[in-house]
Amino acid sequence: MVTKSFFGTYELYTIEAGELSVSITTLGATVTGLRYRGKDCVPFYDSPEGYLGGTAYLGAAIGRYGNRIAGARFSLNGKEYLLPANEGANQLHGGPDSYDRRPWTPEVLEDAVRFTLFSPDGDNGFPGNLTAAVTYSVQGSILRLDFEGDSDADTVYAPTSHMYFDLSGGENCLAASLCVNASRYLEVDGALIPTEVTPVEGTRFDFRAMRPIREAYDHCFVLDGETACVLKDGNTQMTLTTDFPALQVYTGEFLPEPFKAFGAVALEPEAYPDSPNRPDFPDTTLRAGEHYHRWAEYRFETV
Ligand code: BGC
Repeated sequence: MVTKSFFGTYELYTIEAGELSVSITTLGATVTGLRYRGKDCVPFYDSPEGYLGGTAYLGAAIGRYGNRIAGARFSLNGKEYLLPANEGANQLHGGPDSYDRRPWTPEVLEDAVRFTLFSPDGDNGFPGNLTAAVTYSVQGSILRLDFEGDSDADTVYAPTSHMYFDLSGGENCLAASLCVNASRYLEVDGALIPTEVTPVEGTRFDFRAMRPIREAYDHCFVLDGETACVLKDGNTQMTLTTDFPALQVYTGEFLPEPFKAFGAVALEPEAYPDSPNRPDFPDTTLRAGEHYHRWAEYRFETV
């Protein structure tokens, strides 16, 4: 069942099915609430001002490029594109006027809502008129996200969802247990730009067996298969499956007030950061006329 209400001047859609209730606002196609068996599992602001004033991308849909593009520039078809930088010399999460700050257009479906955003040619420096869409659907205890995109010129496109999870109801997320299906991760420089693909074996990045998070992470893991990760806190467990090739794990040490540092962990299914400048990474080019589609499923259970 989908119900509509208001979130300041924006709309708010709540999808309730089975044991899950998920609320998404037209502002940034942002998840402002996720309750499993009545328990809050994601942090949220209670007004649009909170989201517009923050820099945490809490629950938001990200585009055109989730994570960083080094030097805020890339070349495509022999042409160089200069992007507005918003993190030092680099671009993070699509640039300054990012998709999470814009109103998306909703379409109500059965136990699902599809949000669409038109991003014109040259938007934040990217080529091509792009129509981006994110569909949120709920079935039983599974929240599914479908990311789509269509462009009239070759461009790069790498959306993600920036949901943070807190399955404990306010405990430190470093105490939660995590398993990540990755035998490799991306080593980064001081600006969090990937340097090389490195085996996790023998490092603090080895999450192949479930264990407490314990330390801060803001790193991208290269996924070995569609089961990306399992997060467990107390007797609540969330399993993320996806066809994205990588997963950013961000333990939120810089989360602003009112969210205490390490209060929640962001699990972002995504492309490898800086792919447009890295011919050795999977290609993030979206060709004119080609339809982009990737999905992610978040399954909640009591164990
Ligand atoms: C990035 C972090 C950043 C956070 C919120 C994450 O995806 O990897 O470095 O601080 O988003 O802005």
